[in-house]
This record gives sequence, structure tokens and C-alpha cells, in this order.
Amino acid sequence: MPPDPVRYETVDDIAVITIDNPPVNAISHAARRGCVAALERLAADEAARAAVLICAGRTFIAGADIAEFDRPVQDPWLPEVVARFEAAEKIIVAALHGSALGGGLETAMGCHYRIAAPTAKVGLPEVLLGLLPGASGTQRLPRLIGARRAVEMMISGKPIKAQAALDCGLIDRIAEGDLRQAAIAYAHELLADGAGPRRLSEAAVKDDGAGGSKDRAFLAEYEAGLAKTARGFFAPGKIMQCVRAALEQPYPQALALERHLFDECKASPHSEAQRHLFFAEREIAKIPDVPKDTPRRDIAQVAVVGAGTMGGGIAMSFVNAGLPVVLLEADDARLRHGLEGIRKQYEAAVSKGKMNSERMRAAMDAITPAASYADIAAADLIVEAVFENLAVKKEVFAQLDKVCKPGAILATNTSSLDIDEIAAATKRPQDVIGLHFFAPANVMPLLEIVRGAKTAKETIATAMAAAKRIRKTAVLVKVCFGFVGNRMFFPYVREAELMMLEGIAPERIDKVAYDWGMAMGPHAVTDLSGLDVFQKLMAEWKERPDDPAYYRVCDALVEAGRLGQKSGAGVYRYEGRKAAPDPEVTRIAAREAAALGIKPRAIDDEEIMERMLCAMINEGARVLEEGIALRPGDIDVVFVNGYGMPRYRGGPMKHADMRGVKKIYDAVGKYRERYGDRYWTPAPLLEQLARQDKTFAAWSAGGAGGKSS
Ligand code: 3HC
Ligand code: NAI
Repeated sequence: MPPDPVRYETVDDIAVITIDNPPVNAISHAARRGCVAALERLAADEAARAAVLICAGRTFIAGADIAEFDRPVQDPWLPEVVARFEAAEKIIVAALHGSALGGGLETAMGCHYRIAAPTAKVGLPEVLLGLLPGASGTQRLPRLIGARRAVEMMISGKPIKAQAALDCGLIDRIAEGDLRQAAIAYAHELLADGAGPRRLSEAAVKDDGAGGSKDRAFLAEYEAGLAKTARGFFAPGKIMQCVRAALEQPYPQALALERHLFDECKASPHSEAQRHLFFAEREIAKIPDVPKDTPRRDIAQVAVVGAGTMGGGIAMSFVNAGLPVVLLEADDARLRHGLEGIRKQYEAAVSKGKMNSERMRAAMDAITPAASYADIAAADLIVEAVFENLAVKKEVFAQLDKVCKPGAILATNTSSLDIDEIAAATKRPQDVIGLHFFAPANVMPLLEIVRGAKTAKETIATAMAAAKRIRKTAVLVKVCFGFVGNRMFFPYVREAELMMLEGIAPERIDKVAYDWGMAMGPHAVTDLSGLDVFQKLMAEWKERPDDPAYYRVCDALVEAGRLGQKSGAGVYRYEGRKAAPDPEVTRIAAREAAALGIKPRAIDDEEIMERMLCAMINEGARVLEEGIALRPGDIDVVFVNGYGMPRYRGGPMKHADMRGVKKIYDAVGKYRERYGDRYWTPAPLLEQLARQDKTFAAWSAGGAGGKSS
């Protein structure tokens, strides 16, 4: 039997109810049962005049147990537990520390008073899981802090700090010294003052004076804004409905609506996808052969070689996390140019109010220009971001090998080249690793960490820790052309390109992808990255398909001087960054199609998306069976953090699982019949799972045995 997660004891005349359910005190079924038992004991305990609800370990209740949402609800459910806290006749003080989130904050709002440690954070992040606060949070929070603030907290999902919570009335007091003692003292004080239970369900929505209950127009305004800020997400609109109900309906009716809408959210594919990502984004840190206790090297000084588009952003990422950077370029002029680029980005941040000029000065001071390789010899981590050319990179690594101190991590930002070949230019391949940042490197959260055949575990552990320090979402992958992200993105773009040859307007293809939820359509992405960049990448690909139609439109556009946004024209025509469709591109595509003997076809919107996605997923199945990615969830994390795939789709592999692997397999078969084997031979793993009617997730969870079965 696991230990009881809820303890009850009395200190003088105060009952102390302690939840101890590591790691984060999620209010699981056992914890809910324990709370109900503790409340019954409190009611019967003549020695206790009041109670304190507190948690052991690093945090107050961090929410409902997310893993339980995939199973049927077990009584008592959380809304009932929260109502029972509120109904208690003796006053209950909630004592918050760490993160009081979701169902945790809802439980605290069921209590009659709230005291928090100065470092505590409180919030309702359910929206990030595709849910709404379903244990009366949508009703109690507006009563406590006003409708407008409640909406902002629930729609953003962002927690606020104890002081801000005190300022808006979400908590009553910030504890000085020991939280438990302060909470007990607070309970005594309340008893001495003759205070009784304060029940939010009996209160009106707080008039926050900034709109709120007096001015409901803000709800309509806010709702209209959601079409843009929360495009495609399901839960935000439901949260708005609940807040509206809080303002317009009696508590019991509004609460019933909250429960109904919570169930709708929980059952939605959006929430299934977002909950999957919650766990996948924690799973990525778990590397089976690189356990948590693997030794790591200290990183105190970083060097970046190459101060172009990527090098500048990479340097900023480290500096922003407090790590000084030495910057090396090919010559003085390019170094000055690189530094100027960094300065401009910081200046833009200052003018937008995202940074103050003092911090900007400190950031620029933390970047030291290097005159030669000797100046980077002391660095603990060197990130190379020079031209995407194997010979140039090998030359740089040979130099690094000569000057860098023993044990330094030598990283490359290559997006396609063979890291093992780069490592072979050194006598220390165990220290060489890929750190594949995404543009703009100081903004995009994704980092693919690429382990070479000889990369040491210590190097991997150090790189993962460094990624965490600069707040990147790091996914460990193995070496292959394009690694995980680009390797799977290329077939997606390939289909977008081929459909242009079949007479489909690029803007229509992009609109279909955008409406499906992608941040940008595939053609808008290639224009942004530069069509010439794509062309060069393809040229480096040794196993490039022997197909004259392959990326033919891209080549033709580059030949016509249309490189994308940077040259004012690519697939689209540009005025600044504003894109407009260009009939000239349709003509170029038609001309190339005629030369290749490709006939126009009518393709409906569903097929447009299906082709692009199935091409991507089929490649994903190969990536998995080759062991390039560790788990399907790792691939999903790559696509939502680096390629603008909406979180509510869960990533390509989760999407396949939810749609049905068999359906994906059948679609691949349909296109194989029409277009032949070249691109549409199903990956063996896709075929195997379709035949077994299994998901990628189930295959992965089966471990080595499941994977081989
Ligand atoms: N349920 C189940 N497991 C949870 C959990 C939860 N609510 N919150 C965290 N965990 C697990 C994580 O999966 C992880 O497990 P692992 O070690 O096996 O990978 C472990 O707890 C530690 O989590 P983190 O690695 O995220 O630890 P951090 O210290 O970095 O962060 C945290 C702690 C801020 C509490 C963060 O975990 C977090 O944000 N948790 C989720 C909070 C949340 O979304 N709450 C709302 C839940 S929904 C709800 O309450 C519905 C209600 O309205 C009815
Ligand atoms: P870039 O052309 O903007 O910058 C490269 C810089 O390296 C130039 O400033 C150049 O002067 C410098 N350089 C060249 N040889 C050098 C040498 N021997 N020593 C010192 N500096 C040298 O290129 P970009 O886009 O920054 O790409 C750099 C690397 O990052 C490439 O490997 C690329 O594949 C990769 N990458 C690029 C992405 C992008 O979107 N631009 C995304 C992810 C990775």
C-alpha cells in the first residue's frame, strides 16, 4: 500500500492537514479521498477550532493529476472536494508555497483564507492543457479578483507571483518566516477576531473597477481578440462562456455550465493533444543511456564562431542567460557587422519596452570580440555557426582542436551536414556534438541536440544542461540528413511544391495549411528561409531523389532571381514583409509542369493537407525505426516548438495516432497507386502498426520488445 498522501494532526487548537504526494502534490484520487477524510475528522474533532491546509515537499498542490484525465473519474471528484472545504464550519487557512496551480489554486479558493510564502506562484494554467479550470475556478476567481483579471489569468494560463496575488486580493497575506507557523498564527488571529468562514460561492463577482462586472463590453472585445491570439484552440472560448455565466447567472447554474464545458474540453482532441505534449516535453529530458547522474562539465565561458544570422542569435541566447560569450569571425569587418546586428536586435527590444537600456549595455558588454582563435582557447563550450559547407566546417574544427582546452565541448550548428565527418576533423570526437538552433536563434524555443557516433555521454549531459540554462526545449536526435525536423519537413514541402506543378495555386496550399493551424503555409516558410538556402541544402543531400520534378519550381524561381522575402520576390511578391500572390509564379509552375509532362489536376483542400501530412508522417515512421528520434513524442515536440505546428494537433505522430495509423497507411497507399513508389512506399513501421492496428505511442511504450514485435 502506498503511504496515505494526507496527514492530520493538531497543534494546540488548530488542525494541520498536510498533503504529501510527491513530486508535485497533484491532487490524485488518493489525495482527494484523504482530504475528505481529513475534513470529516476536522468536523468531529472537538479539540480543533480551525484548520490549516498545507503541503509537504517543494510545492503546494500543482493541480489535478493530469494522468488521471485519460481514465474514468473516481469519486470523490475535485469539484466536490473543493465544495467540501468551503462548506466546513470551522475556518480553513490554505498555506501556499511553490506553485499553487489549477486544481491546487481552486482548492485554495475553496478554503476561507489564503496565506502564501513570498516566493509562491499561483495560477490557473488549465488552458495550456486544452482545459478550463473545472473545479469551480472559473466562478470563484472572478468573485475574488474581478472578471477582467480572472479572464487574463485563465486565458494566458500564466501564474502570478505572491505579491501580485496579494495586490489583487487573490491571497490575504504573505507569510514572514516559516510558512506553517505563520499559517497557524494567522488562524489564531482570525479566531481571536471572531472571523468566520468566507465562502466565495456566496459572494458577488468582484467589481475590479477596470471593466469587470460593470462593463461587460470587455468580454466581447476580448472574445473577438481570441480569434487571432488563440486561433484554432478550443478551451479559451469555453472559458469566456464560463466567465460570462459568472457575471450573468446564479452560482449553481453557472457552476453546472462550467462542469459541462469542462467535460467537453476534456473529451476534445485538442486537450488530448495538449496533454500529450505536457508529458512529451518532460519525457525529452529522459535519455535511457544517459541517466540523470551522468557527470557534466561546467560551462562558464562560451565562444561562438561565425556572427551571421545564426551566430548572432546564438550568442544572444547565452548572454541573455548570463553566460559571457567570445565572438570570432572571419575578419574584422564581418565581426563589426555581426556585433552591429546584435546591437540592433537589443535596441529593438529596448524600444519595444522588453528590455531596459542598462540591461542592453550589460548584454553588449558580455560579448567580447575575438581577434583570433587564441582568444577562444579558454571557452568551455564553442558553438560553430559558419557557412553550411563541409570543407569550411572541417577547417574550423581542425583549428578548434588545436587551440581549445581539453574537455571543451565543440558544437556545430549545422542543419544538414554529417556531424561524424566534422568530428573526424578533430582528435576528440567524443567532445563534438550538434547544437541545431532554429532561426531566430534567440527567439525560437527548439534546439535539436545531435549526438554523433562517438559523442560521449558526458558531452550529451552537458549539452542538455546548457540547453536548459538558456531555456531551450532540447530534443536529442541522431545523425542523418536534416536530423528529425528538416528531414520530415522536406517531404511536406516537396508535396506543396509538386502540387504547384499540378496546377494548384501556392496561396491556396498555404491557406489550407494555415487553416489547419500551421503558423505559416509551406511556401511562406520557404520564402522566409530563402529559396536559395533550400536549393543549397538539397544540393548537399547525397540521397536526393533522382526526380526532375523534385523541388523544380524552387530551382526555377531561384534561376529567375526570386530568392524569397530577402529579394522582394519568391513564391510570393513582397512589399516589406507583406506577401501578395504573383501570377508570374503560376506561369513559371505551368511552364515547368509542361516541360515535365505533368498534367493539371483538381485537388480538394482535404487532399492538399493529407498529402503534406502523410508524407511527413511516413518519414517520421522511418525516423523512429532508424532510432534517429528516441520516441514519437520527441518528434512531436520538435514540430510544435520549431515548425509552427499548433499544439492542439499534438505534433505529427500524435496526430497520426489520433487520426488512426491505419488511415494514414491507407492514404499513403492511395498516393502510391497514383504517383508510384518513389515517394509513397510506406515505411515498414507504418505498415506494421497499421496491420496490428497499433499506435506509435503504444509501439514506443512497448520498449525494445514492443518495438521489435
Ligand atoms: N499531474 C500529474 N503529474 C504532474 C503534474 C500534474 N498536475 N504536474 C507535474 N507533474 C509531474 C511531471 O510530469 C513530472 O513527472 P516526471 O518527473 O515523471 O517527468 C514531475 O511531476 C515534475 O514536473 P516538472 O518536471 O514539470 O517539474 P518542475 O519543477 O519543472 O515544475 C510545476 C513544477 C510548475 C508544478 C510543473 O510541473 C507544472 O506546471 N505542472 C502542471 C500544472 C498544471 O497544469 N496544473 C493544472 C492541472 S489541470 C487541473 O488542475 C484541472 C482542474 O481544474 C480540474
Ligand atoms: P550566415 O551566412 O548568415 O553566417 C555565417 C557567418 O560565418 C558569416 O558571417 C561568415 O563571415 C562567417 N564565417 C564563415 N567562415 C568563417 C570562418 N572560417 N571563421 C569564422 N567565421 C566564418 O549563415 P547562417 O544562416 O548564420 O548559417 C550558419 C550555420 O547555421 C550554417 O551551418 C547553417 O546551416 C546553420 N543554420 C542556419 C539556419 C538559418 O535559418 N539561417 C537555421 C539553422 C541552422
